[in-house]
Amino acid sequence: MTEEYTSLSYTASIHYDRRLYKEDIAGSIAHARMLGDRGVISSEEAKTIITGLEIIRSEIAEEIFPWNQDLEDLHMNIESRLHELIGETAGKLHTARSRNDQIATDMRLYVRGVADEAAVQIRILQRALVFQAEQHVHTAIPGYTHLQRAQPIVLAHHLLAYFQMFERDLERFSQTRTRANVLPLGSGALAGSPYPLDRESVAKELEFDGITKNSMDAVSDRDFVLDYLYAASACMAHLSRLGEEFVLWSSEEFGFLRLGEGDTTGSSIMPQKRNPDLAELARGRTGRVYGHLMGILTVIKGLPLAYNRDLQEDKEALFDTVDTLLSTLAAVARMVDGASFNVERMHQAADGGGYSLATELADYLARKGVPFRQAHGIVRNLTLYAAEAAKRFDEMTLEEYRRFSPHFDDDILGITVDSALDARRVPGGTAPSQVEAALKRAKDQLGL
Ligand code: ARG
Repeated sequence: MTEEYTSLSYTASIHYDRRLYKEDIAGSIAHARMLGDRGVISSEEAKTIITGLEIIRSEIAEEIFPWNQDLEDLHMNIESRLHELIGETAGKLHTARSRNDQIATDMRLYVRGVADEAAVQIRILQRALVFQAEQHVHTAIPGYTHLQRAQPIVLAHHLLAYFQMFERDLERFSQTRTRANVLPLGSGALAGSPYPLDRESVAKELEFDGITKNSMDAVSDRDFVLDYLYAASACMAHLSRLGEEFVLWSSEEFGFLRLGEGDTTGSSIMPQKRNPDLAELARGRTGRVYGHLMGILTVIKGLPLAYNRDLQEDKEALFDTVDTLLSTLAAVARMVDGASFNVERMHQAADGGGYSLATELADYLARKGVPFRQAHGIVRNLTLYAAEAAKRFDEMTLEEYRRFSPHFDDDILGITVDSALDARRVPGGTAPSQVEAALKRAKDQLGL
C-alpha cells in the first residue's frame, strides 16, 4: 500500500467540489436567514453566520481561502473556516440540514447555471451559422444522401439545418433548467426535518420555482444531472457532425471551404498541409461526453433509497461535460465564423457534370402525367445513355430526349440547377425564396 491511497483520499471530494462554492454559500445564506426568521436560531446568530459566509465567499474568490485537504469536502471546509471566523455560532448553521439535502441543492443551482451558459453559447454559434447563411442564399452545393451527390441545394439551407439542431438543443437545456429548478433543502438527511422550516422562502431567495415533494427522492435524485448530460450529448452529436462536414469540406477532394488560419495547424513534416484539428477535436471530444452520460446512468441504477455516497461521483462527470461542451461550442462558433467558402467549386459540384438534375427530369415527366415510378426508369436509361455518350444533359438535343419519352418538349432545355432550386418552394424546402424566409425567422429568434 502506498501512502497516497488512504481512506481519506479515497473518499475526499475537496479537490473538485470546491467548484460549487458559490452555490453552496448561497444555499447556506438562504438557510441561515430562514432559520433566523423562524426563530430556530436568533436573528443575531443568523446575521453573524451570514456575515461570516460572505467573508468566506470573498476569500475563495480572491484565492486566499485556506483550503484544508484533511477536511474531506467543500461543506466541511466552509464550516470549519466559519468556526475560525465567528466561533461557536458556526455550529448552528447546520441545524435542520444535512449534507445530503445541501449537496442536492448545490448541484441543482449549479446545473441551472450551466444550462443557462450552454444556451448563451448555443446562441453565439447559431449567430455564426446565420451570418454565413446570409451570404450564401444563392450558393448552390450538392445535397448528399449516402455521401453520394443527390440533388442541388443552397449552402444556406445546409447551414440552417444545423441552426435547427441547435434550436432543439437549446430547448433541451431549457427543459433541463426547469426540472432542476426545485429546492431540496428541508429534506434533511432523508426523512424531513422536525423544525418549523419555511422551505418556500428559501426557494424564493434562491430563485427556485418550487420545493421538492418527497424528502427521500429529493436527496437521492440526480435525474437533473442526467438531463444535462443527455442534452450535452445530443448537442455534442450535432457539433461532431458539423465538425465532420468541415473536415470533409476542407479536404482537397471536396475543396468547398477554407478554414480560418487560427483554426488549423500545419504538419510538422508536410509543409503543404492545413489540418482541421479543431473540427476533429470537436468530433473526438464527443466520446467523453457520451461516456459521462453512460457513467452516471450506471452509478444511479443500483442505488437503494435514499442518499448513498456513490452519488458523489456525479460531480467530475458533470464538470468535465460542462467544460467540454462550452469550450467546443465556442471553438465551433469561431470555426464557422472563420470559414471561407469556395462558391465556384461548390457550384461545379452541385452541377455534377449535369447529372445532378436527374430527379428534376423525372419530376418534369411526372408533371406531364407520367407515373413517377415510370419517369424514374426513363431518366435512369437516359442517364446511362448520356454517360455512355459522354454528354451532359444540357448538351443533349430534344430529339435525343424524345428517344426516351414522347413527353419531353423543348422546355426541357430550360432546366438548370437554378430552376431546380427555385422549384423546391414547399415550406422547409431549399428554394432561395423559402430559405430567405427561414433566415428571417432564424434572425427573429436571435433578436437580430
Ligand atoms: N460529498 C458528498 C457528495 O458529493 C456530500 C454529501 C455527503 N453526505 C454524506 N452523508 N457523507 O455527495
